Amino acid sequence: MTEKRPVDLVIFGGKLVSVDAVQDGAIAIDQGRVVAVGELSQLPASRERIDATGLHILPGAIDVHVHFREPGFAHKETWTSATQAAAVGGVTTIFDMPNTNPPTASAAAVNQKLEIASRQAIVDFGVYGLIGETCLDQIEPMVAAGAIAFKLYMGSENPLVPCPPDGAILDAFEILARLGIRCTVHAENTPVLQWRGDRLIRSGRTDAAAHLEQHADVATIEAVSRTGIFAEWTGCKVHIAHESSRHSLPHIRFAKQRGVDMTVETCPHYLLLSTDDGARVGANFMRVKPPVREPGHAEPLWEALRDGTIDMISTDHAPHLVEEKNLPSIWDCAPGFPGVETSMRLMLTAVAQGRMSVCDYVRMACAAPAKAFGLWPHKGSLAVGSDADIVLVDLQRTSRISAATLHSIGNATPFDGFETIGLPMRTLVRGRTVALNGKPVSMPGWGRNVAPLRQ
Ligand code: DOR
Ligand code: ZN
Repeated sequence: MTEKRPVDLVIFGGKLVSVDAVQDGAIAIDQGRVVAVGELSQLPASRERIDATGLHILPGAIDVHVHFREPGFAHKETWTSATQAAAVGGVTTIFDMPNTNPPTASAAAVNQKLEIASRQAIVDFGVYGLIGETCLDQIEPMVAAGAIAFKLYMGSENPLVPCPPDGAILDAFEILARLGIRCTVHAENTPVLQWRGDRLIRSGRTDAAAHLEQHADVATIEAVSRTGIFAEWTGCKVHIAHESSRHSLPHIRFAKQRGVDMTVETCPHYLLLSTDDGARVGANFMRVKPPVREPGHAEPLWEALRDGTIDMISTDHAPHLVEEKNLPSIWDCAPGFPGVETSMRLMLTAVAQGRMSVCDYVRMACAAPAKAFGLWPHKGSLAVGSDADIVLVDLQRTSRISAATLHSIGNATPFDGFETIGLPMRTLVRGRTVALNGKPVSMPGWGRNVAPLRQ
């Protein structure tokens, strides 16, 4: 019998978590992939070992909605700071949104962003191409250049990424249906946002409640429904970004019942905050689009996550500087806040509180995003053959979120001071440790574009 070459790494002593079970077991990794899972005694010899006693072994989280800001807004975030934050937060793959400058609206812009990302990233990544009225002819070239999926700003007040007219949206969905590529939709009705915004500004309103009034639930309901109708007509796969309103849920269920290939995400801020938190955090500071709404939305959103109406957790990681957020007029406050570093610990806290199981969390944060965007089973799973994207978490570890210690440049978060239970202790991307005990283990350029894995 020939002596077998030892594999690169064995992680032992922990509990392996999949979508349907938590089991004692060890995992062997070679050349970036999982090569064996089972009892330690049955695994091959390895050159390195990690003792995970007391820890749970999860697939790395996949966050399909982040704004990493380069090119164009490096004062808010860079791919270095953002992927360090992701690694520390247990996130091993991210998809970056196209509202950069220039927007990711051509093959050249995709190439430019991939080049920036490839130089800096320490986790894997995909980049979105923009659906725009003037760049429908760029959809195919953007796919060829390596875009993972597309983003449609159906609700937009940002001139860099304007909402296309419905005719162009329908054409875009036809093209994407033919290509089999999913379109992520910021589902709000732009004319409603513009009309109401203008009226509220003209009337002199500058308070945070005016932002909520502008983004009335109906703007979301209508856009979710229209997305479902256009997707049904064209056969385009769609993904509803950052669902914020309980009133959308029946419309999502209706689309899914009709067989529309619609997946849906929500974010920790819609599950854990309401306008009641404005007094503590600062109502202007909490500005985000869509808005954090009145009390009464979070429970139905949790319920929808548990029953599968909402498929996954994303963060809409959107860092801004504190001074861009703390301004007297709500209209001047930059919307959004960072999320990749805090999402897993916030959601594990929900696990500790019994809102869902750790297997549910793996379904929402790892398996569902991988399946929706064609990365399964390369990503989102710890089965033999999958990429060894792994997070070792201590489900008991209590700690407190501190904005000042986040790795994002724009670190202004409404979760500052939150007590959490459960913490990612070590993160591996394709078998290499990229974060350990809250610190990034920097290896710029280790992150890879995941689009070539898409099936
Ligand atoms: O709050 C938001 N911030 N919503 C968006 O749609 C964009 C994002 C950003 O890029 O800052
Ligand atoms: Zn976003």
